[in-house]
Amino acid sequence: MDLLLLADPLSDKIRSYLPGAKCFVASNGEVVVGACVVKPRGAGTYEIMNIVVQPAHQKSGYGTALLKWIIDFFCESGAGQIEVGTGTFGYQLAFYQRHGFRVTSIDHDFFVKNYPEPIFENGIQLFDMLRLTLRCPDNVT
Ligand SMILES: CC(C)(COP(=O)(O)OP(=O)(O)OC[C@H]1O[C@@H](n2cnc3c(N)ncnc32)[C@H](O)[C@@H]1OP(=O)(O)O)[C@@H](O)C(=O)NCCC(=O)NCCS
Repeated sequence: MDLLLLADPLSDKIRSYLPGAKCFVASNGEVVVGACVVKPRGAGTYEIMNIVVQPAHQKSGYGTALLKWIIDFFCESGAGQIEVGTGTFGYQLAFYQRHGFRVTSIDHDFFVKNYPEPIFENGIQLFDMLRLTLRCPDNVT
């Protein structure tokens, strides 16, 4: 939970999406350095609810390895598409786009409507959620 809270500040919200979800971790030996929670959304769609790497281990390739593993695992298991939402349009956006995620919609004021307190990242308040989708190349209907 400590790790997941780094990517999503509301523990109640995290608990609400854990039932029915799968949680994966990236580890270096015995040390858990990253985590990713993925939830089935029906009709071959899976949503990345949370992906995070310990701050001390960021920018070392763990996040890329974890995301790539998630994409390969779900696409090879027959998923049609993988979705993710982000409110941060900085390096995180490039992180997903580099793996083929495309912008599919914008949920305006998502962070104002769904969180009791304003959320700031790098001094910028988060308002809108950008929704991204990766179509699994071999399973597109
Ligand atoms: C997003 C996150 C999971 C990426 O994991 P990571 O292990 O740092 O990623 P990688 O080391 O594989 O790096 C991926 C790219 O992101 C860049 N990056 C990672 N952290 C960064 C930071 N704090 N500032 C700027 N760029 C950053 C890396 O430089 C790299 O880009 P490059 O290939 O052009 O050099 C991680 O930074 C994180 O946990 N962030 C906080 C939580 C979060 O924002 N989660 C996503 C919510 S949408």
